[in-house]
Amino acid sequence: MATFTSVKLLNITARLWLTLTIAGQWLFVLYIAGFYGKRFLAKGIPGFADTHLPNGYIPGDSTGNIAIVMHILLAMFIIAGGTLQLLPAIRKRYPAFHRWNGRIYVCTAIVVSLAGLYLTFARERVIGSLPQEIGTSLGGVLILIFSPVVIYYALKRQYLLHQRWALRLFMLVSAVWFLRILTFGWFLLTGGWGINRSDFSGPFLVFAAFAQYMLPLAVLELYFRAKDMKQRNMNILASLAISVGTVYMAVGVGVLTAMIWLPRVLK
Ligand code: HEM
Repeated sequence: MATFTSVKLLNITARLWLTLTIAGQWLFVLYIAGFYGKRFLAKGIPGFADTHLPNGYIPGDSTGNIAIVMHILLAMFIIAGGTLQLLPAIRKRYPAFHRWNGRIYVCTAIVVSLAGLYLTFARERVIGSLPQEIGTSLGGVLILIFSPVVIYYALKRQYLLHQRWALRLFMLVSAVWFLRILTFGWFLLTGGWGINRSDFSGPFLVFAAFAQYMLPLAVLELYFRAKDMKQRNMNILASLAISVGTVYMAVGVGVLTAMIWLPRVLK
């Protein structure tokens, strides 16, 4: 049996995670707008030439250049749109907005993933390794598989299943954000053990290429299990996993904002 306290604990930890995620993803959106959006508005596609991206703007590669610009600018809209889908108040008060934003979210996630897959395999690898590319690409393929499932359950009006698959899709689309948090948190904890700084490869980054969505998905499944089983120990276990994740994420978001995103936007 679930005790009142363990149910409350689970709800509070989930809410704290949600609050941090929404705030942290908006910081990422502001970074994309302030760094890439500003360049695009000033110089168009060639504005992506002087960024830190290893394969940003490449003169002569029109398809790749359009893909990278689309990939990053659309990313801004899905990350922002995804956070709005999670807010219960918006779902309840503005159901039409939720439906349209959801359709746009799913379509954009597919386009961004296809562009990401194209960039990964059509362009020469400058940093990283093949296993890292496989990890990230698997995430992209899962987005292509999960997207129609989310829409299917919405059309069938099976809202519990719709909500669960939508949350799984959200974790996958957020992988790019989790990867940065995972890596910066790791730098803080270990000084970068398992990371080869010269070409951004190494065992930790292979792990992170898969863990960027596998870890959030695993914690999410634990949360669903706790909700279904209604048992005290399960509620405590899920709350603990969410709390550890939230603390790690809070540190990662703080460090990333202060050391990477803010300096790049202000430069
Ligand atoms: C759908 C969710 C995704 C979002 C929201 C997203 C977003 C982004 C963003 C914001 C950047 C710029 C990073 C920065 O400035 O720190 C980026 C870069 C990149 N993304 Fe994605 N991405 C997604 C999925 C993918 C997938 C599935 C792949 C590959 C299969 C991919 C491949 C890439 C590559 C290769 C770059 C760097 C380009 C370069 O080498 O210069 N992305 N992405």
